[in-house]
Amino acid sequence: MTVPDTMQAIEITEPGGPEVLTLTKVPVPLPGHGQILIRVAYAGVNRPDALQRAGSYAPPANASPLPGLEASGRVAAIGPGVTRWAVGDAVCALLPGGGYAEYVLTAADHVLPVPEGMSLDQAACLPETCFTVWSNMVMRGGLKAGERFLVHGGTSGIGTTAIQIARAFGARVFTTAGSDEKCAVCTGLGAEIAVNYKEADFVKLVTDEGGADLILDMVGGSYLPRNIRSLADDGRLVQIAFLTGPKVELNFAEMMVRRLTITGSTLRPQSDLAKARIAAEVERHVWPMIARGAMRPVMDSEFPLADAAAAHRQIESPGHIGKIVLKVGG
Ligand SMILES: NC(=O)c1ccc[n+]([C@@H]2O[C@H](COP(=O)([O-])OP(=O)(O)OC[C@H]3O[C@@H](n4cnc5c(N)ncnc54)[C@H](OP(=O)(O)O)[C@@H]3O)[C@@H](O)[C@H]2O)c1
Repeated sequence: MTVPDTMQAIEITEPGGPEVLTLTKVPVPLPGHGQILIRVAYAGVNRPDALQRAGSYAPPANASPLPGLEASGRVAAIGPGVTRWAVGDAVCALLPGGGYAEYVLTAADHVLPVPEGMSLDQAACLPETCFTVWSNMVMRGGLKAGERFLVHGGTSGIGTTAIQIARAFGARVFTTAGSDEKCAVCTGLGAEIAVNYKEADFVKLVTDEGGADLILDMVGGSYLPRNIRSLADDGRLVQIAFLTGPKVELNFAEMMVRRLTITGSTLRPQSDLAKARIAAEVERHVWPMIARGAMRPVMDSEFPLADAAAAHRQIESPGHIGKIVLKVGG
């Protein structure tokens, strides 16, 4: 495969709205030790990209300043020390950044094969959400088969992934979403109860079932005390974002008396080793779920790379259901 010296990419010209995403030409990066270069077919669009664009989620040191946390495509070049991959392999990968581009670098052990029979546009939707869901729901949150699991934002990229993985894992799944149409999508994916939070109180519905053993939450704000009330004794709350704010008054006595655990994490700043461990677990546990048809990415829409601004308008609109991708090389 011939790799050019320059490539098209989307850069964030300054912190701001979707209009600051601008098509530009930049040098193609060279893979260092343990890295591979991917010729990007599709790049996944995630809410953290919008936060980065707005200036509230800075890339970690040494990461590409270009947006894009996941992509699919073919291996274009291999750095020293990489043994698993060959040029031409179809892959999808977690990225430290830089996915909104024709070529992107990542650590070879953050790369997974495209699941058999899956198209490259679908494969681009897998890494960021599967890594986030598996690491928070299972590795950190300790979900077990038979437990009651509540995930908020059921039709988000994260939510659609969490519902399916938790179901395949043998958990009972409860979720919340902002319309009846969205709730119907969630039950179609395997949620036992989907609460339209604009019309009903999720706390009552969940506590009527005995409370949640585990909650995966991205909303925060007023949901924090309501999540605490929704937990069963010994329950765990894992926070992965604070869409409505991180500050709230909480009575921690309940945590002590009912032996609750409150934790959380963000994926991007974690070490390469930690991400490699997550990649290995995702390949071992989630890829077989995909192979047996128990989990598939829910796709909302596709935009050309040059139209990344429209993709960001879409992810920031309440109308989308599931994942949005950018078509880069196709
Ligand atoms: N910790 C990590 O490592 C990590 C990694 C990836 C993503 N995340 C976070 O996980 C969340 C989901 O990411 P995603 O890419 O799947 O995003 P997404 O598809 O845009 O999902 C956001 C969802 O949140 C729901 N929501 C509830 N309250 C909201 C509010 N006040 N404002 C906006 N949306 C609200 C929306 O559904 P309704 O219309 O039904 O309300 C929407 O489906 C984001 O907050 C993201 O930052 C965290």
